[in-house]
Amino acid sequence: MERVRICVVGTGRAGTLHARNFLYQIPRAELVALVDSVPSQLHKAMRELKGEVQGFVSLTEALGSVAFDAVLIATSTITHADLVEEAASQKKHVFCEKPLAVTLEECRKIIGAVKSAGIKFQIGFMRRYDPAFQEARRKIEEGLLGEIILIKSTGRGPGLPPEWAWDIRKSNGILAEVNSHDFDSIRWLSGSEFKRVYAEAGNFRTPDVRRKYPDFYDHAVVTLRMENGAMGVVDSSCPVGYGYDARVEILGAKGMMQIGELKNKGVSICTQEEGLVSSVYRGWPERFAEAYLAEDRAFVDGILEDHLPSPDAYDGLRAVEVVLAANRSIETGRVQEVNRIL
Ligand SMILES: NC(=O)c1ccc[n+]([C@@H]2O[C@H](COP(=O)([O-])OP(=O)(O)OC[C@H]3O[C@@H](n4cnc5c(N)ncnc54)[C@H](O)[C@@H]3O)[C@@H](O)[C@H]2O)c1
Repeated sequence: MERVRICVVGTGRAGTLHARNFLYQIPRAELVALVDSVPSQLHKAMRELKGEVQGFVSLTEALGSVAFDAVLIATSTITHADLVEEAASQKKHVFCEKPLAVTLEECRKIIGAVKSAGIKFQIGFMRRYDPAFQEARRKIEEGLLGEIILIKSTGRGPGLPPEWAWDIRKSNGILAEVNSHDFDSIRWLSGSEFKRVYAEAGNFRTPDVRRKYPDFYDHAVVTLRMENGAMGVVDSSCPVGYGYDARVEILGAKGMMQIGELKNKGVSICTQEEGLVSSVYRGWPERFAEAYLAEDRAFVDGILEDHLPSPDAYDGLRAVEVVLAANRSIETGRVQEVNRIL
């Protein structure tokens, strides 16, 4: 096989970003099909992408109509488990957007299906492919900071996620949809598993959403203890309006390290009238463009060169476990142990 033929399922915000990468930026990938259960959304994506791509309203229909090797799943989280199971049953390799799933039962189903089909499975924690996150991890592994004491991860989104994510029972809320990345970063950078969690949350900006979905919170602070003793804090807000704010600070026994800043790569301008003005990252597609491309490329290369995919379904599961525990903590007001189910 010289090129990996790919079907992208879900042509919303994340799906079109990946589809564009496969179509225009990754020569070893061939985007052959797009699937979206909403025909108007599918046609919009097909018009925009302008490739030799066929469109379908279900994965089942695509599987029966066109040949491909891999599926990228970027649909609402509650649909991930069934879609992964269906793709795996046909021996298609799978890239699945985070969060892995909503419930632990769905996670088990995904891991079981991936194992029994013997397919490659990669989860969309793209920060692991961001050059700054990678450099930080390398330096930590080299011992530059000594023992890791505290990792603070700020994850604030400019706008609300789509409405399907507002119902906590269908999505696990913004700790899952926005901050899965922060939890994964803390776990990856500390090199340790979650032990316990305490979380506070509140609704400060979106009373209208809360009227419709009474459990909806738009801000949270989560404190974590890792098994190796390190501590973590996730600072979650959405919608902050001012930009996509993804910053991490790591405190170690020998020093401190910061990853990321709100200011983008553009110029800073200082004038007498306005003082110092810099432009900021407005959204995640812009802040992590390089990382999305690198993770998509790694998925394709991994299939062609038979590498173990990373991050994998277990990395996805660990983030679901901690999010569920944090939501239990918000609900009960108590510290929760984070138990690993597999
Ligand atoms: N890695 C990241 O930074 C990142 C960023 C955004 C979204 N995501 C994840 O990507 C997934 C999608 O999020 P989004 O913001 O793109 O959502 P979205 O609502 O913009 O798009 C989802 C699309 O999937 C379609 N869909 C839903 N169920 C389907 C099914 N069974 N078959 C075919 N199509 C179906 C919907 O019609 C919709 O067009 C979520 O899991 C989300 O958490 C990840």
